[in-house]
Amino acid sequence: MVIKICIGSSCHLKGSRMIVEQFQRLLEKHQLTDEVKLLGQFCMGQCQKGVNVTINQQMISVEPSDVETVFNTYVLKVLNHHE
Ligand code: FES
Repeated sequence: MVIKICIGSSCHLKGSRMIVEQFQRLLEKHQLTDEVKLLGQFCMGQCQKGVNVTINQQMISVEPSDVETVFNTYVLKVLNHHE
């Protein structure tokens, strides 16, 4: 699984860096750092929706306060589903 977080300037201003850190922390907590790749990506042309995160090609707009919910829904549930 790949999680890409927009690090373009608009998303950066909306807290993409915090979002990267939160994803990193959650991946470590759930010991998923080998299974899930965390990457940055450049502006996706959807700045007004930012912070834009793509998880397995699906684009989701995330606020720093949403990270845990998004992680549970789009990462944990999906991974458990494949087990
Ligand atoms: S800066 Fe993130 S979509 Fe433009």
